Amino acid sequence: MDKIHLKAPKNWINDPNGFIYYKGKYHLFYQHFPYEPRWGTMHWGHAVSDDLVSWEHKDIALFPSKSADRNGCFSGSAVEHDGKMYIYYTGVRYLTENPEDIHTCPGDNFASSQMMLISDDGEKFDNMNRKFTAVEPIKDTAVGSYSDTRDPKVWRGKNAWYMVLGSRSGRKGRLLFYKSADLKNWEYVNFTTRGDLGFMWECPDYFEVDGARVLIFSPMGISDVGYQNLSVCMTVDFDEEQCEMKLPDKYEMLDCGLDLYAPQSTTDAAGRRVMVAWARMPEPDERGRNGMFCIPRVVSVKNSHIFFSVHPNIEKKFSRRISDINAADKAGYRVSLDINDGERVDIGGYIISRAGKKIRADRTNVFRGHGEIKTEFETPEINGGIHLDIYVDENLIETYINGGEYVLSNVVYDLGKYVRADGKCEIFTLAKGEENEKI
Ligand code: FRU
Repeated sequence: MDKIHLKAPKNWINDPNGFIYYKGKYHLFYQHFPYEPRWGTMHWGHAVSDDLVSWEHKDIALFPSKSADRNGCFSGSAVEHDGKMYIYYTGVRYLTENPEDIHTCPGDNFASSQMMLISDDGEKFDNMNRKFTAVEPIKDTAVGSYSDTRDPKVWRGKNAWYMVLGSRSGRKGRLLFYKSADLKNWEYVNFTTRGDLGFMWECPDYFEVDGARVLIFSPMGISDVGYQNLSVCMTVDFDEEQCEMKLPDKYEMLDCGLDLYAPQSTTDAAGRRVMVAWARMPEPDERGRNGMFCIPRVVSVKNSHIFFSVHPNIEKKFSRRISDINAADKAGYRVSLDINDGERVDIGGYIISRAGKKIRADRTNVFRGHGEIKTEFETPEINGGIHLDIYVDENLIETYINGGEYVLSNVVYDLGKYVRADGKCEIFTLAKGEENEKI
């Protein structure tokens, strides 16, 4: 069992996939390379939870078994239909081979098919007999890219099923929309783009919440310092019938810490929109696991600003007040405080401070960055008082500002065992009897 932050049992994790509340349980699949703590031929790992707090690891769900997915089962999503779990993902087949490393593709020269697998129960995944091709690799360059079209997100619309794919045309990212009456036959309908946001768009997600239409995606090449691929969110106009999506000029970063990537959302048991994302790690943890997921966050929209708040199931668990973090559970602890201009809180060497209307974070002393990965971050300007709820785990610190108005999350290593705040702060950990048993 993993609590709060999900990691793979071993080796490599990247994007969350197929996130769904299905027959009373949460299923969270993930991009997984089971052999080493690095990216390689993708499988879908699988974890299940009753409450979004404790995760039980299951066997690998999807693995390469067909010519079209022989080099990997890339990202995708899941929906329920007639009691069955329909999984959509991108199958890749390399067109050039690296004889010294069959797990990567020289020159990114590969064919991408949108594929599906039907599972009757969310427990058995028949990779031999229940896989089908939903959309063949795209040959028309006016529509999208043969190699770079991927990450199907499927949802039920008013009168049909819809699929959005990340793609590009030349060096401009775009999204492609498909429609289906039966979840098996898919028809291309339309695309959307805007000129200035990277060269390829990955992992699109679209949903309605609080009367707003929200689009989240992950453009590649949006930044030239630090991670070059970053996730963004925005409210959009969308005409479902024509699949016509108008993107606004304004967009926001998914998270001010810039480590999170490739988010995916679903609806929880109570109908809330919940999102998880991959926290990128430059090095594996002390048990050789690279990559993890952030706390499931509830998405809401107020005054056209997108909030990401800690899911109440998790917030509730951090209920035992402690005065010394040595008494904290292995799953971590929460530090809560109001912060005034000029004040700071030092969490084992990770410094959060307030400068005027902004919150800043500095991980210089608790990071093992390589190359240009950034160590200092800040939020946009925040009006009014500022309250922080900081969730601390050994490799991820998530600072929720004013209940999710902004979130700033950072991967860290070798945190010291102390909390020093300028002002007053309270510390909470998991209640007794809730102790974590991380494998
Ligand atoms: C995003 C991504 C997806 C792709 C997957 C491959 O991190 O590049 O676009 O499906 O990872 O692992």
